[in-house]
Amino acid sequence: MTATTRTTSITTALLHLSTLLHLSTTAFSIGVNYGTLANDLPSPSQVANFLKTKTIIDSIKIFDTNPDILRGFANTNITVTVTVGNGDIPALVDANAAGRWVAHNIEPFYPQTRIKLIAVGNEILFSGNKEWISHLVPCIKSLHQALVRAGIDDVKVSTPYTLGILQDSVQPSAARIKPAYAKVVFAPMLEFLRQTKSPLLINPYPYFSYSPSMENYILFKPNSGIHDDNTNITYTNMFVAMMDAVYSAIKAMGYDDVDIVVAETGWPSLGDPDQPMCTVENAVLYNKNMIEVATSGEGTPLMPNRRFETYIFALFNENLKPGTAAERNWGLFRPDFTPVYDVGIMSSAVGKSNGSSPSPATSPSPATSPSTGASPSPTESPSSGSAPSPTTASKTGSGPKADASDKALQANKDDVCTEGKQCKPVQTGGACYNPSSVRSLASSLIPLIMIWFVYI
Ligand SMILES: *[C@@H]1O[C@H](CO)[C@@H](O)[C@H](O)[C@H]1NC(C)=O
Ligand SMILES: *[C@@H]1O[C@H](CO)[C@@H](O)[C@H](O)[C@H]1NC(C)=O
Ligand SMILES: *[C@@H]1O[C@H](CO)[C@@H](O)[C@H](O)[C@H]1NC(C)=O
Repeated sequence: MTATTRTTSITTALLHLSTLLHLSTTAFSIGVNYGTLANDLPSPSQVANFLKTKTIIDSIKIFDTNPDILRGFANTNITVTVTVGNGDIPALVDANAAGRWVAHNIEPFYPQTRIKLIAVGNEILFSGNKEWISHLVPCIKSLHQALVRAGIDDVKVSTPYTLGILQDSVQPSAARIKPAYAKVVFAPMLEFLRQTKSPLLINPYPYFSYSPSMENYILFKPNSGIHDDNTNITYTNMFVAMMDAVYSAIKAMGYDDVDIVVAETGWPSLGDPDQPMCTVENAVLYNKNMIEVATSGEGTPLMPNRRFETYIFALFNENLKPGTAAERNWGLFRPDFTPVYDVGIMSSAVGKSNGSSPSPATSPSPATSPSTGASPSPTESPSSGSAPSPTTASKTGSGPKADASDKALQANKDDVCTEGKQCKPVQTGGACYNPSSVRSLASSLIPLIMIWFVYI
């Protein structure tokens, strides 16, 4: 009964235009993944200033410990999550190495830069790399101990997972951590997260389960939903189902008190001709509705009245990312700071209108009638063909730093991670060092591991 009521209310909330209005009038905060596989991005201090003065984005997550970014975000009050390179995980199990890592990557910048969390690698279980996997939890603990020894007590340590951690299960309530990981990785990790009050990081991507027949369910459009027989909850959206699946899995292990953070999610606004789902309209639909679920405080059927710290992937379109056109078009912004689309994150959209907003997007008008019942209509679509092409972009060539760009370029050209199946641990700076270079591989395989969501 309660569950049914909740379902009804969440469904209603999701489908109403009030979503739009809510975002425009209610203060909420949102994070972004600030990837840098591009040669045309503004300097980190320009980015920090832009986010602080023009948007409501209050937290960033980066895929390394780029000192220019850490310096650029000093004294902004924007929190920063940094990432340990996948290949560095085994070595950092050693206490001295972890101490040096903290001394080199955290202490020079903290606390002027509000470093909030250290993500240890990215999607390590998904990498299939046994050495990384076996050292993952020991590395997390080792870095935590190093922080404690350095007298830093408010920087958390965790690691992001794909939904591939879940074993096949049709109903969210029945989702469980795969037995192969449950005892050896998740039991000690969840215990660590509980003891240190650190969050579980997950990267849910309904996008990678896209099929035309699933479109309504994935893009928050009206649909009859998926009924969960155990709870009598009907799920009308995949993102919500994914959140409840993760919750059910950790609850089954006795850790439902551990916070869940959405470390990555998003939708590309442009793709190759065979990626017709990559449109500005769909990116707006997905991100706007996802933000509503994550930040409204309504929560999900199994986690009512909760807010989820959320990091959209990604801040910028990144012109040097390998793979399909979609890979280079995940961004909320172009490198010149013009929005690819607006999902209510420009600060001018929060209550006060400002005609000089740099956004070509139309801010939702607070004067609009609250409940027209229609789906949000993304009228703000700029010409999707105007995304910067690698050629035009490279002309402006003002990357943060030459060596940073070179490193990013190297990660692309030397596609050990994106094309081979065997990501060997490599030293810092190597092809597998930048975890974001791994995401193309992850992207292409996620449809397989997410197959259970396609069944339902
Ligand atoms: C910094 O951000 C926090 C929220 O993360 C907020 O509570 C606080 O007031 C902010 N401080 C300043 C000086 O803006
Ligand atoms: C689910 O709902 C049906 C119809 O309302 C009801 O008969 C059934 O007992 C419910 N099951 C559970 C597990 O609540
Ligand atoms: C509007 O934005 C411009 C530039 O972004 C700024 O100079 C101006 O003060 C803002 N006006 C209001 C009313 O916020």
